[in-house]
Amino acid sequence: MAFLDFLTEEIAIDLGTANTLIIHNDKVVVDSPSIVARDRATGKIIAVGREANMMQGKTHENIKTIRPLKDGVIADFDASEKMISMLIKAIPALKKKLFPPSLRMVICIPSGITEVEMRAVKESAERVNGKEVHLIHEPMAASIGIGLDIMEPKGNMIVDIGGGTTEIAVIALGGIVCDRSVKIAGDVFTNDIVNYMRTQFNLFIGESTGEKIKIECGSALDDLENPPNEMEIQGRDLLTGKPKSVLMTHKDVAKALDKSIIRIEDAVMETLSQTPPELASDIYNSGIYLAGGGALLRGLDTRLSNKTDLPVYISEDPLRAVVRGTGIALKNLEIFKNILVR
Ligand SMILES: Nc1ncnc2c1ncn2[C@@H]1O[C@H](COP(=O)(O)OP(=O)(O)OP(=O)(O)O)[C@@H](O)[C@H]1O
Ligand SMILES: [Mg+2]
Repeated sequence: MAFLDFLTEEIAIDLGTANTLIIHNDKVVVDSPSIVARDRATGKIIAVGREANMMQGKTHENIKTIRPLKDGVIADFDASEKMISMLIKAIPALKKKLFPPSLRMVICIPSGITEVEMRAVKESAERVNGKEVHLIHEPMAASIGIGLDIMEPKGNMIVDIGGGTTEIAVIALGGIVCDRSVKIAGDVFTNDIVNYMRTQFNLFIGESTGEKIKIECGSALDDLENPPNEMEIQGRDLLTGKPKSVLMTHKDVAKALDKSIIRIEDAVMETLSQTPPELASDIYNSGIYLAGGGALLRGLDTRLSNKTDLPVYISEDPLRAVVRGTGIALKNLEIFKNILVR
């Protein structure tokens, strides 16, 4: 239906556990936390994205905030479909249209997702006017977004540390040669910090505070070249019940995250040990690329580099690497048709 193509709009979506991003006309037009707020009485979604995120931890009994994706899989289909639909409708250029345009989409999905879930994502997308819906696996999209030439006969290793999962993949000739997905990523890091505050300082903090600590004062190493300032944290004293505050440093966070980071290191080592020798020698020369929000954790690159004896590079703007790659796949569907999920 090429003659109707002018009525079709193209969008690329990174449906992430922590963040959903959308590219339209080469621009990131949506970059929003993957969260919705629902009215318990009517079941209606009253807010999505940033607005819903601000309600998190502060809701009363009539409002519930939901993260539709958990651990890299869809935990609430209905909420996830409504979230996608509301975010698409909020794209400024599409809002102006008289009729909702039909959409050609490439959606990036976590690689741990099942057939049934894949079909559900596709059907959700079709219900929001998707007339041509393609799916792509996250490590593929991340590799394209980083600018790696994934079609070459050369191995590349990519580690995408998102909110729900860390996906480790060796890619060559447009395919995933070996991969691992572990459910240790940003959400677990945040939880580690919340638990650490409880056990070390008797301080009860919420998830949002835990995440703030991770971003502002987070570290994977005790020794950092440019350590962040110490941070004053407020919460509730578990013994007295009163609000109190404590000072913490990046060393506290490094201690809190240590066990989880060891599990990521182990998964990287296992993937390396399963890599065929010819590709291993490529990786020896080209190193490991990090993407996803977790790549921004201070010292994580150094730690992985020490563990593997390989150079480790943080991709440019790692939070957007996946959506960038999804956008490139969308614009070059013919070139990338074989790497899309069939
Ligand atoms: N500066 C930072 N330091 C440490 N962690 C960070 C930083 N910035 C963001 N993060 C974390 O990165 C995670 C989000 O990353 P990203 O958007 O790549 O995940 P996602 O794609 O939504 O999740 P997934 O790929 O698992 O479905 C969150 O847990 C967030 O707290
Ligand atoms: Mg992701």
